[in-house]
Amino acid sequence: MIRFLLNETLVELRDTPSDTTVLDYLRGNHSPNPDRKTGTKEGCCSGDCGACTVVIVEPENNHLNYQTINACIALLPTLNGKQLITVEDLAEGEKLHPVQQAMVDHHGSQCGFCTPGIIMSLFAFHHEAPENRPGILEALGGNLCRCTGYQPIVDAANEIASLTPSDRFKNHEQGTLQKLSTLKTQRDDSAEGVFMPSSEQALADYLLKHPQTRLLAGGTDLGLEVTQQLKDLPSLVTLASVKELKEIRCTDQEIIIGSAVTYRQLEPLLARHFPDFAHMLSRLGSQQIRNVGTLGGNIGNASPIGDTPPVLLALDAQVELRKGNTVRSLPLEDFFLGYKKTLLKESEFIARIRIPLQAHQLKVYKLSKRYGDDISTVLAAINLELDDNGLITKARVALGGMAEIPKRALACEAILVGSPANSTTLKQAQEAIRSEFKPLSDVRGSSDYRLQAACNLLERYFLEMSGQTARIIAHA
Ligand code: FES
Ligand code: FES
Repeated sequence: MIRFLLNETLVELRDTPSDTTVLDYLRGNHSPNPDRKTGTKEGCCSGDCGACTVVIVEPENNHLNYQTINACIALLPTLNGKQLITVEDLAEGEKLHPVQQAMVDHHGSQCGFCTPGIIMSLFAFHHEAPENRPGILEALGGNLCRCTGYQPIVDAANEIASLTPSDRFKNHEQGTLQKLSTLKTQRDDSAEGVFMPSSEQALADYLLKHPQTRLLAGGTDLGLEVTQQLKDLPSLVTLASVKELKEIRCTDQEIIIGSAVTYRQLEPLLARHFPDFAHMLSRLGSQQIRNVGTLGGNIGNASPIGDTPPVLLALDAQVELRKGNTVRSLPLEDFFLGYKKTLLKESEFIARIRIPLQAHQLKVYKLSKRYGDDISTVLAAINLELDDNGLITKARVALGGMAEIPKRALACEAILVGSPANSTTLKQAQEAIRSEFKPLSDVRGSSDYRLQAACNLLERYFLEMSGQTARIIAHA
């Protein structure tokens, strides 16, 4: 049974199909819902516009953690064991919530269609601990408004940033924590069409018996199969409660990341070890997507335009795969076989990603039509090592959007290794990229554009490394 708090009310869903989206459930689109709420809007239904933004609440270190999600692509099991807050829940009678009042005071709404989503993004922002708060533009990056213009909304957000939360949610925090803790102890692993294991062993055992079951991690891609391709997903298994897959461990040699770790959880770790990776992450989807999207999902999806695989390729990452009790590790580059095809066998799942901790000069470049909340046209992750004489001793150049899989530029790397970091080497390496990649042309960019962009990004890397390379280029 899927059990969650809808604001303060316990909801238990026994028979509602698990591939129902949270938005359809809230609005009662396909089945009667006595708790129907229509304040949450449907715009794009693909996780792009933010009109459907709601907040889910979970305990974290004896506090409540408020995170936005796109209700349009979130499937009902996402809510299990959590509290769901929608725009209807904020005002107390006639008294607006401070977030709503700030939007009114700054004239942040016109037609109002985007407003519920923006209010919920600002509500989560308001409840974020100051040390974890994203920037205002990041917090709002997943919310599009066609009429107001963004400055009044940013002004409202600035006012909110100066307020300490003292609303009824804050005042009821201990009570909500208690209710969520009770939900946890009464958990029930199965509901209509879904199994929700809490351990890796239970997941592995279940998949052996049910090899056709689809894995639901963040669901930011799987949800699109429901809303864009109108597919039924009759059998799901969720990863969100599998504690081992939510863990991050660091040793002297490597970082080991459970496949169900979200982008949001990863940000502080990456900021410490791989700042360019962390920066790119701030442009991967929207805050709503980063709150639930997982590293394992981005790899398992095997999209040629997934943003994290090229970076992981440039960092020599390994994937750990598990089937039953058999575990195997392999370099990530061996995992991708073709367009959306991977080495995963039936009943096998990605358990962990291992990133070696070694000296690196990683830089990540994402080119997209819009700066935030957009899919990459080309993504380049470049990691070169140079010796004291300016010779390149190791090269990892990985590209997204350039082939049917995220791919290392092996011919380019072969030119680079052993060569001086100078303009002659750069030109040869760029020629190698041109010869080994034949990207397609699509709505995001032509084949020629992509090739030129990839070559230019390599040049940019050389220029940005100019502390080491400018002198050498001058002598070339
Ligand atoms: Fe556009 Fe959900 S309706 S993000
Ligand atoms: Fe009309 Fe934002 S106020 S879309």
